Amino acid sequence: MNKKIKKIISKKKRSKIVCLTAYSKNIAEEVDKYADITLVGDSLGSVLYNYTSTRNVTLLEMINHSKSVRLGIKKSLMVVDMPYKTYETSISAFKNAKRIIKETKCDAVKLEGGREIIKQIKYLIKNKIPVMGHLGLLPQSARGKFKSKGKTVKEIKKLMDDASLLQKNGVFAIVLECIKTRVAKKITENLKIPTIGIGSSVHCDGQVLVTDDLIGLNETNVRFVKKFSNLKRYINLGVKRFAKEVRLKKYPTKKHSY
Ligand code: KIV
Repeated sequence: MNKKIKKIISKKKRSKIVCLTAYSKNIAEEVDKYADITLVGDSLGSVLYNYTSTRNVTLLEMINHSKSVRLGIKKSLMVVDMPYKTYETSISAFKNAKRIIKETKCDAVKLEGGREIIKQIKYLIKNKIPVMGHLGLLPQSARGKFKSKGKTVKEIKKLMDDASLLQKNGVFAIVLECIKTRVAKKITENLKIPTIGIGSSVHCDGQVLVTDDLIGLNETNVRFVKKFSNLKRYINLGVKRFAKEVRLKKYPTKKHSY
């Protein structure tokens, strides 16, 4: 097993796992200084391209952004989301995951789902491709308004069963998205592998957020997002000063000219 993955698993019950998204080298460089896991999430579809669903994200888009992210990573574990329709069968999952790993040099891939995709997950792991799971709210299959999960007995049972099934088949960690606190806590306690929460309470072994959301680069009012800085304000300042100096002929000076 990859040393970085072993280290992530060993953090369970010892220290919280920090996971953040990156879609480009410059953001990845900053994320890598603090995160244990850098995720190239297919959330880039809505954050960067205004797609109405992550279903529109292509394999090529994921690969191109991941190649850029790779350039900014020195130490964290790099995980890349497999986009919609790229893991419909074991064979297509393996072919596409192999391509992602070969072209982006990432450490692992992430797939959304439990029992429905267990054959594909099993096949990837059997073929030495490390897999991160994703349960709860699954943006690739959700229809209509995003809703939290784990409200009914049936939903809770499926979540618990899926989490155990993913662990049994060798997944090294599971993202729990928008799962009710009590259920996320129970899943986390039941597993030997870590859970990484997003909108699923402090009881998960780690937390993930979309970096563009937390640094205030992407406007969102999703409940689980906390804005830790307001990058848009700084960008605005720089761009405004540049425009002003160009118009006043204060920039460029001799120093900036050949
Ligand atoms: O696509 C993504 O960024 C994700 C995280 C939010 C978990 O899957």
